[in-house]
Amino acid sequence: MVSSKGISVESVVSFLENLAANPSSIPASLREDDKLRKRLLSAIPKLVPELEIPVEVGQRLFYSPLELIAARVAVDLDLFNIFKASPTPLSTEEVAKRTGKSPNPHLLTRILRFLASVGMVREAGTGVWSSSHYGNNLSGEGEYAGIKSTMDNCVLAGFAIPEYLRRHAFNPPEAHEDTPFGIGNREGSEEPTFYEWLAKRPQNARDFNVYMEYHRTGVRTWLDRPEIISEIKDALEKITEGKKGEEKSVAFVDIGGGIGHQCKALRTKVPEFKGKIVLEDLKEVVATAEPGEGIEKVEVNFLQGQPVKGAASYYFRSVLRNWPDPSSRTILGYIRDAMDGDSLLLIDDLVLPDQGAHRYETQLDLTMLAVLNAEARTEAHWKKLLSEVGLEVKDIVFYEEDAREGVIIAKKMVN
Ligand SMILES: C[S@@+](CC[C@H](N)C(=O)[O-])C[C@H]1O[C@@H](n2cnc3c(N)ncnc32)[C@H](O)[C@@H]1O
Repeated sequence: MVSSKGISVESVVSFLENLAANPSSIPASLREDDKLRKRLLSAIPKLVPELEIPVEVGQRLFYSPLELIAARVAVDLDLFNIFKASPTPLSTEEVAKRTGKSPNPHLLTRILRFLASVGMVREAGTGVWSSSHYGNNLSGEGEYAGIKSTMDNCVLAGFAIPEYLRRHAFNPPEAHEDTPFGIGNREGSEEPTFYEWLAKRPQNARDFNVYMEYHRTGVRTWLDRPEIISEIKDALEKITEGKKGEEKSVAFVDIGGGIGHQCKALRTKVPEFKGKIVLEDLKEVVATAEPGEGIEKVEVNFLQGQPVKGAASYYFRSVLRNWPDPSSRTILGYIRDAMDGDSLLLIDDLVLPDQGAHRYETQLDLTMLAVLNAEARTEAHWKKLLSEVGLEVKDIVFYEEDAREGVIIAKKMVN
């Protein structure tokens, strides 16, 4: 069979088969050309369901949670790091020894066999295993934290979405305390929400915070758009005009900034940055943060107020997606009251397109529903939300195309 461009379908399939069987033969140009690589990554998953027959759909879809579940077991046994560190393939017995946990050898074989069948390890021979590109991509502290945080903190909430929607007759309430997470994670009344639940579980909280620090490593961030820094510098000049010492004024407040990774990243990227940098988060999060020199830590519950007044910029990254509109109005209302006429509000978040949202965006949106009864918003939704609390959008600077991450720059409305 010959395609419209004269290439035989047989040769395309053989070419792809060969790449899959011998990953070292993947041309460097494909790994290095990000646009081309992403085109292929986007095409293959769309092609798979087009080619399947029903029984194959079932095999793929019904068992898909097992990939994450097995990865979680692999993390407990440190398998990805063990294989990455080993220059030669390892027998099952040797793997068992290196885990230090004496796993039952038969059970370990079953786990390894599953991991090999999905590509997370390689089967180098019968009962002999080695690292794979997929498994290596999952090794390391940040990846481990991501697997643990997703499995231990979020997955049960996701599984509870259908039950939650049935209970609410497919009309979810606006209250941020009423969530699928509440059904899936069986929280007590003293810990009604995800963050209160985390506060009582230090290991879960640590995994979540490390994952938050790590999860955008290697992709573009707001700091790759110099015009945002210029806007903050201009705002700082305006708010300090006529006053002595820009250094004493607050240039940047990272609200819900976790353990301070964006504050640190800003200091590193713009060492000459003038004015104070402030990290705000809940008491228990700020207590574990070590943002480094020149970054002030402030304990804040942003549902109750904003202590830093008249800063040049107030920055939220991946925070407002955690809150439904009524709570977001409360949070933003406190910021509006703290803002000067020249202060900037910077919302670093997803801005969904009206049509054709990417899978990265839609899966994040439903995760927000699951965990926090919240959502990812479209541009029109953001504009409406901000205008409801007296703020107006001046600009939206996108820095990541696939998942339309961008910074919404807003100011106080002039009456
Ligand atoms: C999704 S994380 C984002 C963290 C960080 N901005 C980032 O981009 O990695 C949301 C953050 O909001 C914080 N948070 C949740 N509820 C809060 C509250 N009521 N007051 C202040 N911070 C809160 C959490 O502790 C967490 O660090």
